[in-house]
Amino acid sequence: MRKKRVLSGIRATGRLHLGNYLGAVKGMLELQDNPEYETLYMVADVHTITTPYDVAHLRQNRKEVIMDYLAAGLDPKKSTLFLQSDVAEHIELAFYFSSVVTIGRMQYLPTYKEKVKQFPHDNTIALLNYPVLMASDILIYKAGLVPVGIDQEPHLEVAREIGRKMNEKYGTDFPEPQRFATKGEYVPSLKGEGKMSKSVGGSFILLTDSLDAIRKKVRSIPTSTEVGAKADDKRLETLFKYAELFLGEGPKKEELKEYAPLKDQIAEAIYKELKPIQERRKEIEQNPKYVDQIITEGAEKARQIARQTVDEVKKKIGLA
Ligand code: ADP
Ligand code: TRP
Repeated sequence: MRKKRVLSGIRATGRLHLGNYLGAVKGMLELQDNPEYETLYMVADVHTITTPYDVAHLRQNRKEVIMDYLAAGLDPKKSTLFLQSDVAEHIELAFYFSSVVTIGRMQYLPTYKEKVKQFPHDNTIALLNYPVLMASDILIYKAGLVPVGIDQEPHLEVAREIGRKMNEKYGTDFPEPQRFATKGEYVPSLKGEGKMSKSVGGSFILLTDSLDAIRKKVRSIPTSTEVGAKADDKRLETLFKYAELFLGEGPKKEELKEYAPLKDQIAEAIYKELKPIQERRKEIEQNPKYVDQIITEGAEKARQIARQTVDEVKKKIGLA
């Protein structure tokens, strides 16, 4: 029996933040180190062009994400690391998949609605197609497990629906991919509202931030003005979520006398986790040829599996 496959990806929109690390990369690492799984991790660079972007930034960010992956501990000896655009089969399969998906179903997705609100003049077919391409990314490897944050659950539901439809209609054998959840599946924004996100300034801590920068950012987390607030005080939720994620249990809300020392303790714990990643990152930056080689080899490995699935699908749907 072949090993169960795992596929995940992160868009090439910039350097990774703590939310990406805890919600996605940590799960990717855990599964990479489990010999029961074959892991494939990509940079979702094609997904990046579904919203407005800068060409030079995209070109740079594709490599930045690969370097962040390597710095975080993804290991090309254990995982296939590649750029989505290097495996054109993803786009080919996505088009075949789009024949079993209605426009109405795609317009109904919360992630789509949010992006349309954010970019009202860029409500493109590519944006509407985003989840179809993501389903193709996953199902082209027949991956059953996908390490991503909780915000991606609606997209996984679409992938399951598409796989099911294809299986019923054409007799393919796509699995129903499940999300592999981590403890940090939802890292709140530093601003106290919504999730930590690259697209919201002031909401995130980057994996490259210095201890000083992290300290300042954690100090900015809003807290209630009265110390020793009630345990159900909503204004303390963010701070206590960080305490739970980085200090284990953390103190009880009503027992807390001052916020500043707790904030500094959290900042130090975050930095302690990021420091080895930052050190590895510096080494990797010195070696661009090594990074290019990983990207080339990763694409070759991924392409072999992807081509096989697309050829199978073409036969089943009458195109071969
Ligand atoms: P962003 O929202 O910052 O643009 P992406 O959408 O590129 O991040 O997400 C990349 C991966 O990181 C996805 O698996 C996503 O679920 C995860 N992720 C992003 N933000 C968070 C967060 N705040 N908490 C947990 N996981 C997150
Ligand atoms: N939609 C994901 C995000 O915003 C990125 C992504 C694209 C992805 N294709 C994927 C994640 C396939 C997991 C599997 O982060």
